[in-house]
Amino acid sequence: MGFPFKPHPRETLVLSKHFGEAEARSLDGWKARGGYRALEQALGMDPVAIQNVVKESGLRGRGGAGFPTGLKWSFMKLGDGKPHYLCCNADESEPGTFKDREIMRWTPHALIEGCAIAAHAIGAETAYIYIRGEFTEPLERMERACAEARQAGVIGRNAMGTGKRVDVWVHKGAGAYICGEETALMNSLEGKRGNPRIKPPFPAASGLFGMPTTINNVETLAAVPHILVNGGAWYKAMARPDNPKSTGTKLWSVCGNVSKPGNYEVQMGFPFKEFLYDLCGGPPRGRNFKAVIPGGSSVNIITIEEAERAVMDYEGMADVGTALGSAGCIVIDDAQSIPRQVARLARFYAHESCAQCTQCREGTAWTTRILERIVAGDGTAEDLDTLLDLAENMTGKTICVLSDSCAAPVVSGLQKFRHEFEALITRKTVHAVPTIVS
Ligand SMILES: Cc1cc2nc3c(=O)[nH]c(=O)nc-3n(C[C@H](O)[C@H](O)[C@H](O)COP(=O)(O)O)c2cc1C
Repeated sequence: MGFPFKPHPRETLVLSKHFGEAEARSLDGWKARGGYRALEQALGMDPVAIQNVVKESGLRGRGGAGFPTGLKWSFMKLGDGKPHYLCCNADESEPGTFKDREIMRWTPHALIEGCAIAAHAIGAETAYIYIRGEFTEPLERMERACAEARQAGVIGRNAMGTGKRVDVWVHKGAGAYICGEETALMNSLEGKRGNPRIKPPFPAASGLFGMPTTINNVETLAAVPHILVNGGAWYKAMARPDNPKSTGTKLWSVCGNVSKPGNYEVQMGFPFKEFLYDLCGGPPRGRNFKAVIPGGSSVNIITIEEAERAVMDYEGMADVGTALGSAGCIVIDDAQSIPRQVARLARFYAHESCAQCTQCREGTAWTTRILERIVAGDGTAEDLDTLLDLAENMTGKTICVLSDSCAAPVVSGLQKFRHEFEALITRKTVHAVPTIVS
C-alpha cells in the first residue's frame, strides 16, 4: 500500500482497510465503521470461549516468534485471585519494520478494542500499551483515543455498561530496542532498567509486578476484533490450501531498494515473487534485486533466487532458510555491498545490547569491529573464520535472542555472499556503484 494509501488489487485489507481515513481515528468514526461491536460481544462471553475462537482462527503472534495466540492466552490461570495484566508490545524497533506504527496512527481504537478483548479473555482488568519512545505521533493518537474511549465508558470501571472493568493505559518507552523483548519491556514498565529476565518463570506465571501477564504485539491484538466479529473459521480460511499453520492476513513493511516501499497487507501464503515485482514495483530502474532480509533485520538473508521461489507465511519462509519474523522486508539490489549492509546491522545490535550477557556484549561489539575493518579494506583472511566463531558463541547462549539476531544476518550474509567479503579483503572491487538513473 503506497502513499497516499492506494491499495494494490491483490492486497487483502483487514487491518489496513481504514488507513488514510482521518475520521476512523475518532471514537464516532470507529464506531461508524463497525468498531467496538466485537468488544461488546466479547464482554458478554466467557473468557475461555474467546480463547477458543482465537485458537480456532489459528492466529499467531506478529511480534516475531509466531507463537499461537489463543494457546498463549490459555496459559493464564483464570480465577487464581491474583491481578492479571495484558501488555501490548508497541516498541517496534526492529530495523525494517514499521507496521505497528501505522495501526496506531490510523486506527488507534482497533488496538484499544483488541487490548480490551484480550484483557477480558485472560482475566485482566488492566492493559498497558508500551510505545516506542520515538513514536511521538502514534503516542499522541493512542493517548487521545484512550481518553476518548474512557470518557465514553467504552473502557474503564464499567466497560460498555457491562459492570466489567477493563482499562487500557499508554506508557511511553525511551527508545531502546531491547525494551521490545517481552521481559525487558515489563522491567521497563515497572520503572527498572530494561534488562531481559531469565525464563522460567514465564510471564504467564510471573510477569509484570510478579503477576500473571500476557504480552502480545500490536498487530496480533488489532486482528482480534475482526476474528471475533467474523469468526475463527473466516480467519483460518485465509491460508494456503496446503498449509493451515499460517492463517489470516499479514502486514509487510517493505523498504530498501524497491520502487514502491510501504506497508502491504496480503493473505498468508502469497507468492513472494509476485509481491516483490508487482505489488512493490520491482527494483529501481537500471538495477536488479540481489538479496532480501524478509523478517526484520534479525533473520537470515536470502538470495533473490531463494526469495522468488518462496511463499509468504511462517513455513514458506522457513522452507528457504529464513523466517517471517516481524515481516519487515529489507530489499537489497545489485548496487549494494552485502558486507557493508551487514556491518551496519551489526553496529545497530552492538549499540542496542543491554550488555548483561558477555557473549552478546563482547560478541556484537567484536563482530562490528571486524566487519567495519573488512569494509574499510583492512580485513584479513582469518577475519571470516573469526566472525563465524563469534557467531557460534552468540547463538543460543544468552538470556534473550538479541545476540542470535545479530549473528543471523552475519552468518547468512557470509555463507551466501562470501565472495564479496573475500573481494574486500583482497582489495578487489566487487561493486561499481552505478550512476543513479533519474
Ligand atoms: C531484542 C528483541 C526485541 C523485540 N522487539 C519486539 C518489538 O518491538 N515488538 C514486538 O511485538 N515484539 C518484539 N519482540 C518479541 C517479544 O519478545 C514477544 O515475543 C512478542 O511481543 C510477543 O507478542 P506476539 O505473541 O503477539 O508476537 C522482541 C524480541 C527481542 C528478543
